[in-house]
Amino acid sequence: MRVSLLGLGTVGAGVAQLLAANRADIARKVGCGIEVVRVLVRDPGRARATTLPPGVLTADPEVALGDPAVDAVVEVMGGIQPALALIVRALRAGRPVVTANKDVMSEHGRAVWQAAAEGGTDVFFEASVGGGIPIVRALKESLAANRVRRVAGILNGTTNFILTRMTQQGLSQQQALADARALGYAEADPSADLDGLDAARKLAILSSIAYNARCLPREVFRQGIREVAAADIAYAARLGAVIKLLAISELRPGGVSMRVHPTLLPRAHPLAAVHDAFNAIYVQGDAVGEAMFYGRGAGALPTASAVVGDLMQAARFLDRGGAGTGCTCFHERAFVPLDALVSRFYVRLRVMDRVGVLAQIAGVFGRSGVSILSVQQTPVFEGATAARAPEADPHGEECAELILTTHEVGEDRMAEAMEGLGRLAVVSGVGAVLRLAPEDL
Ligand code: NAP
Ligand code: HSE
Repeated sequence: MRVSLLGLGTVGAGVAQLLAANRADIARKVGCGIEVVRVLVRDPGRARATTLPPGVLTADPEVALGDPAVDAVVEVMGGIQPALALIVRALRAGRPVVTANKDVMSEHGRAVWQAAAEGGTDVFFEASVGGGIPIVRALKESLAANRVRRVAGILNGTTNFILTRMTQQGLSQQQALADARALGYAEADPSADLDGLDAARKLAILSSIAYNARCLPREVFRQGIREVAAADIAYAARLGAVIKLLAISELRPGGVSMRVHPTLLPRAHPLAAVHDAFNAIYVQGDAVGEAMFYGRGAGALPTASAVVGDLMQAARFLDRGGAGTGCTCFHERAFVPLDALVSRFYVRLRVMDRVGVLAQIAGVFGRSGVSILSVQQTPVFEGATAARAPEADPHGEECAELILTTHEVGEDRMAEAMEGLGRLAVVSGVGAVLRLAPEDL
């Protein structure tokens, strides 16, 4: 099978390396050799650590896709354009496409699948979620008999690395981000990771497969990790929890709900043991019960593992006939906004340490219909907390840090309570408002 490789960066170079390293075994497994005959890059003149013959590199998409000898296309350029146009063109021409592109698959899945149908071929996108973790085909095929109720996962390696460092080494978020950069996990602009967009795109892809309905990143509620401080990690530990950026989607009577937010997760939950840049996806289905998938969510060879696995599947189809599973979004489902859900909350407040303060706060919660589950007060002058150094409030009065958790409550009531707290003179600051994991997760 002759392949045009669009992109020779981290993943593309990994794909070329893996195809070369395991060439003979790969050929035996699929019944034919797989050879990269064209490579599209921005700068073909740049020196590259690859064994590909220099003649295969081009900056011209016409050369990369116009060659009639090309049987299949691998898109590992990233971004929406020109990647989307090239994928669509290849599919319309009847060539199977393998892609690692979560941006394209989450935002433009409909156009991609339509092009595949027009060309009578298929698109394979295992690497777009969870890097080397086999989850796309697992959901699409191996778990297809299930009615999936929930998908919950740690889908972003950079933020999981940062939260792990904050938890295990007591680092601030800034220090942990600097470490993530030094180790090459975080990009120069880590916004898509820190603000939950990367995880939201991956969740939209998994949800589309799990619930057989097109789910879009803009339908995902998003709260990133920026407001999670070292103090919250320490207080969560006292509550027997760790904080993880969880991506959760559920099939509810009204449709599909999707959210990405920092979550207090009981320390005993399997997802709590997922550390560093690892990813994991936890699936709840009516037949399988619970299944968890764990592994490296990024990196040259882990991601190439998924890309080349897909390529081998495409080779089998070309060699023996048949096609992949195709688009499985046959339902139209409404999306359920976060406002329609209930959650348990964690709130960190800075308050004056005076008579009657707790009563005022409890009053605000009570009037908004928010039931308090637990309260912890730490006098910050005494330095009794490992979470933060002693300091005075802006008025020089003794103050305390108050950690409250709530029973399940709707978003509207919680928002009303937080507004009410903001109006209290005795509350000098709201540190963080986070959600606890669903009780049945
Ligand atoms: P990368 O290192 O930035 O490499 C991108 C490659 O595409 C480069 O070779 C670049 O050419 C080429 N390219 C980009 N735009 C181009 C254009 N307009 N015309 C021609 N060539 C172009 O990216 P990556 O990290 O390998 O990621 C590739 C894809 O895999 C993305 O969709 C990403 O989300 C996904 N992914 C990555 C990882 C990971 O661990 N990196 C994991 C899972 C999924 P030059 O070499 O000349 O610059
Ligand atoms: N930025 C992503 C992460 C890379 O940190 O998980 C893999 O998609």
